[in-house]
Amino acid sequence: MKLEEAIKNRFSARVYDGKEVDKEKLAYALELARQSPSARNIQPYKFVVCNEPELVKEVALATQTPGAKINRYTRNVPCFVAFVGEKVGLAKTLLKKAHIHYDDFDIGIAVQSFCLAATSVGLDICIIGWFSRKKLAKALALPRNKEVRLLVAVGNGGAQYKERKKKDFDEIVSYNKF
Ligand SMILES: Cc1cc2nc3c(=O)[nH]c(=O)nc-3n(C[C@H](O)[C@H](O)[C@H](O)COP(=O)(O)O)c2cc1C
Repeated sequence: MKLEEAIKNRFSARVYDGKEVDKEKLAYALELARQSPSARNIQPYKFVVCNEPELVKEVALATQTPGAKINRYTRNVPCFVAFVGEKVGLAKTLLKKAHIHYDDFDIGIAVQSFCLAATSVGLDICIIGWFSRKKLAKALALPRNKEVRLLVAVGNGGAQYKERKKKDFDEIVSYNKF
């Protein structure tokens, strides 16, 4: 699949059949995420694959809120990739301000590389930013100085691409002046 197709075909899939994810396809997407640019090439992340059924259940629960609809679909997701970075604390933010800001960019870029690569080999994905950091830290046995910054649901399930409303080109692009 060409880059343009992968970018245009990627969408947030929220229907999953729970079936195991093809290991080679997953490894391909992780490898391409590993090639992402990173400020000062620090690569301040680790990609933690969660595909053991009991752990997957725990991770899915950490993305849900009892009584709320948000992320309910994650109960059928067979695999998550947790993008783990340095925990952001006040002291650290003050001490290493620039560094911390770049971490977020680096992780976002790696997530996008992963999502495009996964899409290009026919995997469905959804980026998830709503979750309990505390529950995930426990489930994934993270060291105290690390936290999950973003999760990506990975699987298949026949979710159909849906045209999403994106801002018009002229609204979002300008040349030379804002
Ligand atoms: C940083 C970030 C966090 C997100 N968090 C969630 C989430 O918790 N749950 C969810 O279902 N979708 C989540 N999404 C997906 C967005 O809702 C989705 O990208 C947006 O609606 C546009 O749709 P599209 O991805 O199909 O283009 C997140 C996306 C990003 C980039």
